[in-house]
Amino acid sequence: MPGLLLRTLRGENGDRRPIWLMRQAGRYLPEYRALRAQKGGFLPLVYDAEAAAEITLQPIRRYGLDGAILFSDILIVPYAMGQDLEFLAGEGPHLSPRLADAALSSLHAVPQRLSPIYDTVKLVRAQLPADKTMLGFAGSPWTVATYMVNGEGSRDQHETRAMAYRDRAAFQAIIDAIVSVTVDYLAGQVLAGAEAVQLFDSWAGSLAPSEFERWVIAPNAAIVSALKKRFPELPVIGFPKGAGEKLPAYARETGVHAVGIDETIDPVWAARELPAGLPVQGNLDPLLLLSGGDEMERETLRILDAFADRPHVFNLGHGIGQTTPVEHVAQLLGVVRGWSR
Ligand code: CP3
Repeated sequence: MPGLLLRTLRGENGDRRPIWLMRQAGRYLPEYRALRAQKGGFLPLVYDAEAAAEITLQPIRRYGLDGAILFSDILIVPYAMGQDLEFLAGEGPHLSPRLADAALSSLHAVPQRLSPIYDTVKLVRAQLPADKTMLGFAGSPWTVATYMVNGEGSRDQHETRAMAYRDRAAFQAIIDAIVSVTVDYLAGQVLAGAEAVQLFDSWAGSLAPSEFERWVIAPNAAIVSALKKRFPELPVIGFPKGAGEKLPAYARETGVHAVGIDETIDPVWAARELPAGLPVQGNLDPLLLLSGGDEMERETLRILDAFADRPHVFNLGHGIGQTTPVEHVAQLLGVVRGWSR
C-alpha cells in the first residue's frame, strides 16, 4: 500500500496527517553540517549522489517524516540551461551571464548537468522504507527566471518584473525555455523513482494580478499538463508563495493535485475558499517552529482542526530556518501525530 503522504496527495483523508518540512534536509541538522564541512560546499554535495542521498535520508532517519525531499536546488535548471552557478559563503547563489545583460540564445545548454540528480533519486528510493514517499521538485518558471535575469536574489524581483513588461517576447521565450527543461527534469526524477513532485514558486507574491496569470498560472499549468500526459498517477504539489487571494484561481487553473500555502494565509479561509476535496499543504510559520513552546502547539492544533474535513499534508509555510533547535521539530511531530479526529 502506498504511504500516508502519497495517499493524502491522491485525495484520501484518513485519521492521521502526513508531515514533511520544506528544507528539512539542511543546515539546522548537525549531521548535515558535518557532511557539508567534509565535502566543502553546497554544489559539490549536490553533485555527489551518495552524499546527496545521505542528506535526503538524514531527516527521515532522525524523525521518520512521511516524505523525503530530494537534496538539490531549483538553480540546477539554469545551470543545465548553460549559466554558470556559484554559491558564495554568506551571499547566496550567483548565476552568470545574467539574462538582464545577455540573450537567452547566447547560452549553451549542458543537459548532462541534470543526470547526477537522477542518480541521487535512485539511491534514495532504494534505501527509503516503502511507506515513505520520495518527493522530487523543481522551481517554477517565474521564480527560476528571477534568478536567471538578475543573476542573484533580489528584494522584490524588480529587474525581472520590469523586463517582463519592457520586453514581453524575450521574457516569454525565457519562461517557455524553463518550462521545457523543467518538464524533462521532473520526468527524469519520476523515472528515477520520485513518487510526487513539488513546484516551488517562492516569488509568486510579487506579481500584479494579470502578470500572475501570465507568469505563474500559465507556465505551471503547462508543466502540470505535460506531466499528466506522461504520468497520469503522479501528484504535483504547487506552492505559489505569497499568492494570497489569488490562491483559489491558481488551484483551479493550474490543474495541480495539491496546493501548498504559506504562513500568511488563514487556514480557516483556505479550508473554505480552496476547491472542495483538493489536498492542501501547510502552513505553520517557520518562526513558530524556531520559537517552539505552547504558542507553536496552539497554532499547530488550529491548523490541524481547520483542515479536518479535507486531505491535508502538514508542513511549514516556508523553509525551516537554519537556527531552528532540533528538539522543536520533535515537539511538533508529537503534536501532529497525537492529533486525531
Ligand atoms: O530540504 C529541502 O527542502 C531540499 C533541498 C532544497 C534546497 N533548496 C537546498 C538548499 C530545496 C527544495 C531548495 C529550493 C530552493 N532553492 C528555493 C525554493 C524554496 C525557497 O526556499 O524559497 C530557492 C529560492 C532556492 C535558491 C537558493 N538555494 C538560495 C536563495 C540559497 C541560498 C540561501 C540559503 O537558504 O542558504 C540556496 C542554497 C541552498 N539550497 C542551501 C540548501 C540546503 C544552503 C546551502 C548551504 O550553504 O549549505
